[in-house]
Amino acid sequence: MPEKILEVQNLKVCYETGRGCVKAVDDVSLTIFEGEAFCLVGETGCGKSTLALSIPRLLPPNSRVLDGRILFKGKDLLRVDDSELQRIRGKEMAIVFQNPMTSLNPAYRVGYQVAEVPVTHLGMSWDKALTSAVNQLSKVGIPDAGIRARDYPHVYSGGMKQRSMIAMMTTCKPSLLIADEPTTALDVTIQAQILKLLHSLRVEYGLTLLLITHNFGIVAEVCDRVGVMYSGKIVEVGEVTEIFDNPLHPYTRGLIECVASRRGSKARLNQIPGSLPNPLNLPSGCRFHPRCPYTTYLCMKEEPTMTEATSNHSVACHNYKAVG
Ligand SMILES: Nc1ncnc2c1ncn2[C@@H]1O[C@H](COP(=O)(O)OP(=O)(O)OP(=O)(O)O)[C@@H](O)[C@H]1O
Ligand SMILES: [Mg+2]
Repeated sequence: MPEKILEVQNLKVCYETGRGCVKAVDDVSLTIFEGEAFCLVGETGCGKSTLALSIPRLLPPNSRVLDGRILFKGKDLLRVDDSELQRIRGKEMAIVFQNPMTSLNPAYRVGYQVAEVPVTHLGMSWDKALTSAVNQLSKVGIPDAGIRARDYPHVYSGGMKQRSMIAMMTTCKPSLLIADEPTTALDVTIQAQILKLLHSLRVEYGLTLLLITHNFGIVAEVCDRVGVMYSGKIVEVGEVTEIFDNPLHPYTRGLIECVASRRGSKARLNQIPGSLPNPLNLPSGCRFHPRCPYTTYLCMKEEPTMTEATSNHSVACHNYKAVG
């Protein structure tokens, strides 16, 4: 059995807003094992980024972690001091965002920005780090990396910027890479290339990947296990093949059918009726019940808890036996 690298336990995160406290992550528990690719999937606004950002403590100032623990290699990241956190970020854990322009600094050459990471985290000399940056840029597929390393980010295409971000984030060979919608801003062919790149870096460096996406098609291509999020909660977790073959939560089933119907020869766009509930006014019982075809009286009254359906598949649904 592989070691646990990350354990999120009963995490609750809210945002203070003028209209009240938005519970973006509500009692989420999650385990990720060393070397695996774990995918977090769910509709826009369900809390994926909030969960991802809480791991390296990069949440915005109006956020509040109300409860929980985030154990990374056994250390609770919510409780380590700033210098320890700084050491872990970049060296042992790295994060790639949806829009690389928000992470690349427009005022510095790309090669310099990639080199800065091992200088800061590994104490490498600038000379060595600049050479290593060119190698890393070449490894992630930047053509003529020796020359292009001297460019500023604005002359790079979207795909090149994302490759550079990945170069920057993997240059210290972190053990955990969190990628938050890394391909959403890119066209489909570039998306596929970036996913392939992440896979090859995973194999080469043995890194663990936490990939966040709203696209179930990507889940099938890249991941070993998947967690489905709905309205701040994880509602189903399991191995990818198991989830695709036997989805137990009506929401997961709906998400998969959205992908499957688009792949058919006569493309018919399936959809899940309704939308995510307002986080300031959540429905009683199961949060999915107003959109669910299997709703019973119990669903309206009582919130379902995570139940182990099989040894590698858990679900939070009162009626999962009827769905599966
Ligand atoms: N800084 C903030 N202040 C207030 N509310 C926020 C803030 N950031 C996010 N939220 C709210 O928290 C909830 C979860 O947002 P989050 O960005 O985590 O969702 P997401 O699943 O990553 O969505 P997407 O797929 O669009 O990236 C949403 O209701 C969102 O409106
Ligand atoms: Mg997000």
